[in-house]
Amino acid sequence: MREQVLEVLASNGILLEPGALEIVMSKDDPIAFVQSAISFMKQHPLIVTAADLAEYVKDHSAAETLTVANALPDHHEFRTNVNQESSARKIDGVKILKDITGNSTCEGNISDFARYFLDRFNAIKRMLAHRRELAGSLPISKALKLERDVRIIAMVNEIRMTKTGHKILEIEDEEERCLALIPKDSPLINDSVIPDEVIGLIGKPNRKGEMLIVQEIIRPDIPLRSRFEQNDATSMIAFASDIHVGSKTFLRKQWDAMINWLKTEGISSGVNYLIVPGDCVDGIGVFPDQEEELIVDDIFKQYEMLGELLKEIPDGVTIILQPGNHDAVRLAEPQPAFQKEIANLFDSQVIMIGNPCYLEIEGRTILSYHGRSIDDLIGNIQSLTYANPIDAMKEMLKRRHLAPIYGGKTPIAPEKKDFLVIDPIPDIFVTGHVHGAGVSDYRGVRIINASTWQAQTNYQRMHNFNPDPAKLPVVHLGTGKCIVRNFN
Ligand SMILES: [Fe+2]
Repeated sequence: MREQVLEVLASNGILLEPGALEIVMSKDDPIAFVQSAISFMKQHPLIVTAADLAEYVKDHSAAETLTVANALPDHHEFRTNVNQESSARKIDGVKILKDITGNSTCEGNISDFARYFLDRFNAIKRMLAHRRELAGSLPISKALKLERDVRIIAMVNEIRMTKTGHKILEIEDEEERCLALIPKDSPLINDSVIPDEVIGLIGKPNRKGEMLIVQEIIRPDIPLRSRFEQNDATSMIAFASDIHVGSKTFLRKQWDAMINWLKTEGISSGVNYLIVPGDCVDGIGVFPDQEEELIVDDIFKQYEMLGELLKEIPDGVTIILQPGNHDAVRLAEPQPAFQKEIANLFDSQVIMIGNPCYLEIEGRTILSYHGRSIDDLIGNIQSLTYANPIDAMKEMLKRRHLAPIYGGKTPIAPEKKDFLVIDPIPDIFVTGHVHGAGVSDYRGVRIINASTWQAQTNYQRMHNFNPDPAKLPVVHLGTGKCIVRNFN
């Protein structure tokens, strides 16, 4: 908690003397207290003393602090170590099931990373252990001593090819590391093993007992017979990702056409929710020379503009905003929801969530993730392309992880618990980020890539990147039927 408080203070450029920090930490909800006192603290340009803060506390009743805390939609009660049902908060029919917001604990040191990867390993190991093929799996240390077929569950450290065309995996479990060999003539030679994923391996130790010869690779995956069961929900959810407000190429005309549709046909056909899976605004300093592509170069003004645009949407539609890599929250995933200073720029029909976030709406579980890791998956799995992000999302589901590869383009914060593990299996899984548009189904999970409202930028042209903008995927919560409306 102390770290989170310091993070909020630091991001607002506020320094507290130790005595003042103690006052903050003595509060029931230190974060809510800090947020309520931010404008007061900002009036003290050098350092906020204990005496300053005591004065503030005296002037502000407990009741007021409580009001501020309740007004914060970004502090869900979710704790990873308590029952999800009882702790999830419900806002306008939207229940937040799993979200980092208010639960961040990491400091980012080496032991944090060890703990983080152990949590990931254990979470996915539990899923793999349920696979029939992996019954009787053994730790690496025991398995390698046997002269028969063995089953192990391990995390992949490294993948390399030998000069003679075999593939070597360096794998590890809680206590041991070893090599696993995929012979060049094996049908598995083109299997897309990626760094840091957790897999099950069936194979035979070599004679010296130092290496596993792989016969089969098992992934946690989604059970084969999962289905999207129809229910009697009547609402629809629309998805509009990567709005990039503030960019010169924001598609105002197409956006307005979409809003007009939403106000009329959308509302009458039951669109009661709009989810924005990240890159709400274009941000500032996100890529080289971005200022040349901006019409608004003030981050707060960008959010203000978005707030104005969203005011056009009728009150009956609940809007859910998630940050992406262009937004004003920490870059490392999981990303927390927007802080109060930004959240306050929006109407009360707007709910702020973290990235990723598990939500429940009318009995359906929705996993919303901006999708930064699609870059890393495309870089590591040969069959994947930017033209078809849906396939990258299927690879995530197979591995039951949103961002398996560590150390690529997706920065990961080593939280105690791995919020990027895909558990439970969602009914609907949505991403944005790659400015593509598509809907599909994988073993009963509706998969959606939610387009963009920004035309190609000069930077994208330079990188030969072709967006598919101004499309609005809409899903019916009862039937699971998906359609993509085109506003070009
Ligand atoms: Fe984007």
